[in-house]
Amino acid sequence: MYINFWYPMAVSDELDDKPLRVRCLDQDFVVYRDSGGAARCLSNTCAHRGGSLSGGKIKGDCLQCPYHGWEFDGDGNCQRIPSLGKDAKIPSRTRIDAYPVEERHGIVFAFLGDLPEDERPPIIPVLEEGQDGWRGTVVHYHVKGNYERSVENGIDPAHNEFVHDTHGFSGENEDYNVGELRGVESDWGHGFWHTFNAPPLQAGEMKKLREQAGDMEVGTGHHGPNQVWTYIHPSPDYHFHQYLFERPIDEENIHIYLLCMRNCMLEPEHDELMNQRNKYVANQDVVIIEDLHPVLTPDTNTKEFMVPSDKCILMYRDRLREWDAKGWRIDTDEVRRNKNKVAYAIPSPARRETKGWVLDQVPLIDGSQAAAKLKVAG
Ligand code: FES
Ligand SMILES: [Fe+2]
Repeated sequence: MYINFWYPMAVSDELDDKPLRVRCLDQDFVVYRDSGGAARCLSNTCAHRGGSLSGGKIKGDCLQCPYHGWEFDGDGNCQRIPSLGKDAKIPSRTRIDAYPVEERHGIVFAFLGDLPEDERPPIIPVLEEGQDGWRGTVVHYHVKGNYERSVENGIDPAHNEFVHDTHGFSGENEDYNVGELRGVESDWGHGFWHTFNAPPLQAGEMKKLREQAGDMEVGTGHHGPNQVWTYIHPSPDYHFHQYLFERPIDEENIHIYLLCMRNCMLEPEHDELMNQRNKYVANQDVVIIEDLHPVLTPDTNTKEFMVPSDKCILMYRDRLREWDAKGWRIDTDEVRRNKNKVAYAIPSPARRETKGWVLDQVPLIDGSQAAAKLKVAG
């Protein structure tokens, strides 16, 4: 798991008048809405004696710890320590980590890392958002599996024929093979376009969009370690553009937010059908991902046998090594070893500006070895 990327923390509707506890990267965060309506994200651990801020109250722009009532603003600065009395000066070391937040598509994203704004990898752009002739819905669900395995499932052209009866023939197509993959590359990921033989659409109104089996255009790729785009064009005119935003709760659990933009069936009454269908397809992947062995992607590609249709998966793994080389990978073994002894925080951008923090930042794996390997590989 990596620091320095955007992670989906909640859907906007989940933020009401109470703080919300959210786990990501094996750490606890608290997400809340301040008095101006802005979503905020802080480390959940109070700098006083480790109280859980999500168990406290929202008071104006601040969150009040439930243990001794210290109040923290949305930038993580402690504004009040009741035991010191009314006008007491607040020591700066009481601050806690606060993370940049963006609310888009009805999803609250937090940037969990310490990079300055101009160096942050972006959230995947959703160009259809707000455009005439497009409409989007979001479903979200839990997966008991590893997020890298899930991303690899998303960018795998060879599973559709077998896993999804909506996209393939359940292995009954004698002439099946994975044809040409037309690669696409971006600053933060790899993907491909692919033409494959798909069955007609069956569900309700969607039947009209694709009445016969035949060639279908699909594009898919990853963006960063935890986002996937999948463009499905059942016919030249009808397009479904899907975006998966994955929140690694820890290495063995994920919460996935699936945004599906469509340029057809634009009336709100079709939202339910879309969501049902997306959940149906997602569940088919979930069954596979939850039962993979080992749970995590192996350390070396030789521990699985790769074939040409796995090309994008190999490229995804190469990208992960690049982020290893930057030193962004969390030392999860060390975090787990110290689980009951050390409260860690993901470093926030303010740690680059100021010293003196109560909580240690999560241990990161030194990137120099990964960097040397990349250099040798050219
Ligand atoms: S632990 Fe939070 S105020 Fe004491
Ligand atoms: Fe799938």
